[in-house]
Amino acid sequence: MDIRIVILAAGRGVRMRSRQAKVLHRAGGLAMIEHVVRAARTLTPADRVTVVTGHQADDVEALLRPQGVRFARQRKQQGTAHALACCRAQAARSRGLLMVLYGDTPLLSAATLEALRDAHMESRAAATLIATALADPSGYGRVVADDDGYVVEIVEDKDCTPAQREIRVINSGIYCFRADLLWRHLKQVRPNRVTGEYYLTDMARILRRCGRSVRALNIEDPSELLGVNTRVELAEADRILRMRKARELMLAGVTIERPETVSIDADVSCGQDTVIEPFTRLLGRTEVGENCRIGAGAIVESSALGDGAVVAPYTVVAGSRLDPGASVGPFARLRMGAHVGAEARVGNFVELKNTHLGAGAKSQHLAYLGDSRIGDKTNIGAGTITCNYDGVSKHETWIGEGVFIGSNATLVAPLEIADGAYVGAGSVITDAVPSGALALGRARQVVKPGWVKKKRAAKRPKK
Ligand code: UD1
Ligand code: CA
Repeated sequence: MDIRIVILAAGRGVRMRSRQAKVLHRAGGLAMIEHVVRAARTLTPADRVTVVTGHQADDVEALLRPQGVRFARQRKQQGTAHALACCRAQAARSRGLLMVLYGDTPLLSAATLEALRDAHMESRAAATLIATALADPSGYGRVVADDDGYVVEIVEDKDCTPAQREIRVINSGIYCFRADLLWRHLKQVRPNRVTGEYYLTDMARILRRCGRSVRALNIEDPSELLGVNTRVELAEADRILRMRKARELMLAGVTIERPETVSIDADVSCGQDTVIEPFTRLLGRTEVGENCRIGAGAIVESSALGDGAVVAPYTVVAGSRLDPGASVGPFARLRMGAHVGAEARVGNFVELKNTHLGAGAKSQHLAYLGDSRIGDKTNIGAGTITCNYDGVSKHETWIGEGVFIGSNATLVAPLEIADGAYVGAGSVITDAVPSGALALGRARQVVKPGWVKKKRAAKRPKK
């Protein structure tokens, strides 16, 4: 069966009170429209999916282009039926089924779309829509059905009579049409008397008037059908998506303590027996290996963690990599391509930027290591700073294997410290240090015996 899917995403979303188009707002780590496109793509190939764009169309299209879907522009937002009419040129010749989804329903699952397809094919109706009963249906279009369960019409919330407003069965905005009938009758939709917009929901009444049947597929769990119109609903969608993700990981063998407090984005993967402590955030395309531990309050974004790696509490890791058994934090920061080798240790208040720390190397306390290559088993003392910036350009620091950098060393880049060298504590190092050498760059200590007593005697008042 030929299935074409149109996703309406041209609206501005006035109720969001945002300068950004509604469908670009994020929930569960992806823009809302990305969730809908992903669900659609499990049902039909990407080139059979058309997204109708309008408000901030360039941004929406740029975001979705890598997915291989097609686009149709709706220049003026004149309602959902008008939006669908904008892809007539692209889709009108398709014979089979045409599904219409809205870009603001990010919780929709592929399984529900499959159920819609199957119900539609079985009933041979002209159109089937997904409906559900809500305790609070306000804001949604109501589904008016006859005694045999056929849909008579859909009435928008604003247009409801007091009796219709009592109906709790709502239109989810997810439809499956016989494509030929849809295109034949779509022209008959008239503008709404109050808003002047063309409502796709009028198709129910139109098809019925032409002697065609319209069916509703009633879904028990309404959480999937949430249409996000305000930021309150956006937060609710985000909460549900994050609970879903946490549940999926837990069922796959990941321990999550207090799952309601963690935020894990859609594209995060996590290996077996990893433990995720409360209030953590795992964001972007992060890959976490097996047997890892992510400490409370840690944030890991677009990073890769090898098996057995530990990110101790309140550490921020972004765009970086930890090899197996590496451990960072608490209170460390890794960014811009930092790479911590196997079994290496990074301790509290250490920042690594674009720096490779070799296997088994250590930087345990209070350091800034930027634009540096540091060899295996090297020890970086507390307070070490790589001075990588001279006010104009950035420079690199190369430190070999098995090097010992004493506490509070200031390493002025560009600089090379060869294998096995020592740098004395408190040194300012500006010149290359050869292999096996000790470098000292500090003033000599002066000791003046008896100085205190003399000083006090000089200060004593004369009688
Ligand atoms: C719509 C339905 C309502 C249903 C609800 C479910 C209509 C008339 N009403 O109402 O029955 O209960 O969804 O969530 O369809 N859009 C365009 N171009 C436009 C207008 C809208 O592309 O000119 C897109 C929006 O970007 C959005 C979607 O269509 O993704 C739905 O529009 P929205 O304004 O949110 O419709 P609702 O009032 O929620
Ligand atoms: Ca909506």
